[in-house]
Amino acid sequence: MTDTTAATRPDETGINTRKVFIKTYGCQMNVYDSQRMGDALARDGYEPTEVIEDADLVLLNTCHIRERAAEKIYSELGRIKLLKAEKAERGVEMRVAVAGCVAQAEGQEIIDRAPVVDLVIGPQTYHRLPEALARVARGDKVVETDYAVEDKFRHLPKVTAPQIRTRGVTAFLTVQEGCDKFCTFCVVPYTRGSEVSRPLAQIMGEARALAAAGVREVTLLGQNVNAWSGQDEAGRDIGLGGLLRALAEIPGFARLRYTTSHPRDMDDDLIAAHRDLPALMPYLHLPVQSGSDRILKAMNRRHTGADYLRLLDRIRQARPDIALSGDFIVGFPGETDADFEDTMKLVSEVRYASAFSFKYSARPGTPGATMDDHVDEAVKSERLQRLQALLREHQVDFAESLVGRDIDVLVEKPGRYPHQRVGRSPFLQPVVLDAAAGEIGDIVTVRIESTLPNSLLATGGAVPAAEARHRNAVPAEPIRKIA
Ligand code: SAH
Ligand code: SF4
Ligand code: F3S
Repeated sequence: MTDTTAATRPDETGINTRKVFIKTYGCQMNVYDSQRMGDALARDGYEPTEVIEDADLVLLNTCHIRERAAEKIYSELGRIKLLKAEKAERGVEMRVAVAGCVAQAEGQEIIDRAPVVDLVIGPQTYHRLPEALARVARGDKVVETDYAVEDKFRHLPKVTAPQIRTRGVTAFLTVQEGCDKFCTFCVVPYTRGSEVSRPLAQIMGEARALAAAGVREVTLLGQNVNAWSGQDEAGRDIGLGGLLRALAEIPGFARLRYTTSHPRDMDDDLIAAHRDLPALMPYLHLPVQSGSDRILKAMNRRHTGADYLRLLDRIRQARPDIALSGDFIVGFPGETDADFEDTMKLVSEVRYASAFSFKYSARPGTPGATMDDHVDEAVKSERLQRLQALLREHQVDFAESLVGRDIDVLVEKPGRYPHQRVGRSPFLQPVVLDAAAGEIGDIVTVRIESTLPNSLLATGGAVPAAEARHRNAVPAEPIRKIA
C-alpha cells in the first residue's frame, strides 16, 4: 500500500485536498442521496476517491430493508476497522461515517457495536454532514438522527453542471420521500419518516440544471413517488401526472421515468399522462408483493389481487406497449401453499418484463416480526426458486419478443470494446450497439438482433426513421380480467 498522506492533507496554501470514499447500499434514493452528500462534502474540500485506502473519510450509505442488507454493514465495518488501525500506525487519521437507513434505525447502537464509527447520520439530516464532521474533528462521536424540521434540500448546495456531467446523460431526481403506508413487513416508514413532497419550483429548478448540463433522461424518485403532490404555478393542486407534464416541457429531456409507485396512488391523471406524454417511457415498476388476498390484507397493502389486475388493464389501455415490473415477497407469516400458488397465478397473468423477488425477512419494530406462523426458511427458499424461475421465463420471453423490432435506444456509455456502446431501451433493458450508431446522449433507432443473458444486442447501426418498423411497439399480452 502506498502512503498518500502528504497528498490528502490540507496543503500550505490552505487548499483542502481531503478524500472521501462513499459506498452505497440499497435503493436508488440512496444513490441520489450519496451524490448529494458527495456534493455537500465537495464544498467542504473533499474530493471523491474510488480507493478506500486513500480515503480520509469513509462514508457508508446503508440499507435496512432486509436483515442481510443491515448485516453487510457490520462486516464492512469489520474490514474498515483493520484499515483504520493500519493507517493509524502510519500516523494517518481516517474517519468513518454511517449514513442512510441503518443509521436511522439503529443510531447509537451502531457505535456501541462498531466503535470504529465516528458519525451516524440519518437520511433526513445529511445536509448537516459538514457541521457534524467538524464536531467529529474535535474528538466527539456524533449521532444525528433527529427528523430535521428544516427542508434538507433547501440547505444543500445546488448541484453544479460539472458535477452533473461526470454522472452522464441519465440522472435521478428525488421528488418525494418517506412513506405513510405502513405495510406490515416494511421498515421504510420508520427509517425515512412520513411522506413529504418537494415543491414544484424546487424540482423544476433542479430539473432545468440537469437538462442544461446535457441530461437526456431523468428518473423521478420517491419511496412512494406517485404519492407526490404539489401546486402548479397558478396554485392549483397537482399530482405526479401534473409534475410529469411540467417536466416534459423542459427542452432537452427526451425521457422521463419514475419509481417506485404504490398501486393505491395510481390516479386517473397519472394514467392519462402515460397516454399523453411520448417522453414518459413505457415501463412501470408497480410492486404487488403477493397474489393472495389474505396475505395482501395481512401485509396491509389495502388492495386485492383483482384490484391490481384491473388497474393494470386501465394502464395498458392508456399505453398498450407498457412493460411492467414488480416486487414480490415469499414466505410472509402465515403464507400457505395455496397463497403462494395465488402469487404464481397472478405472475402468469401479468407476465412481467422484469421483477425483483425476496424471501420475507422479519424486521425489528415492524408488525410482521411479531406475527404468528413464520414460514420455514427451507419453504421460503423453495418458493423463491419456483417464483424466480417463472419470472425469469417471462423476462426472457419479453426480451425475445423484441428481436427483429426497431426500438429507440438512448446511448449512455462506451461499451466493453471500442467498437461498441451501451444504451438503454424504452423498457429499461441495456442494449449493446455499434459505436457508429450514435454518440453518447443520442437517441437512435436500432434493430434488435438477438438477446444476451441480461441485455439486447443490435450491431446493425441506426435505422433511418423512415424505414423503422414496429417502432417500440410491443405486443401487449391481454390481462385476463378477474371479476
Ligand atoms: N416503496 C416501495 C418498496 C420499497 S422496498 C413499494 O411500496 O413498493 C423494496 C422492496 O423490498 C419491496 O417492494 C418489497 O418487495 C421488499 N421488502 C421490503 N421489506 C421487506 C422484508 N421485510 N422482507 C423481504 N422483502 C422486503
Ligand atoms: Fe414499505 Fe409499503 Fe411504504 Fe413501500 S408502501 S415503502 S413497501 S411501507
Ligand atoms: Fe433500503 Fe432505505 Fe432504500 S431501507 S431500500 S435504503 S429507503
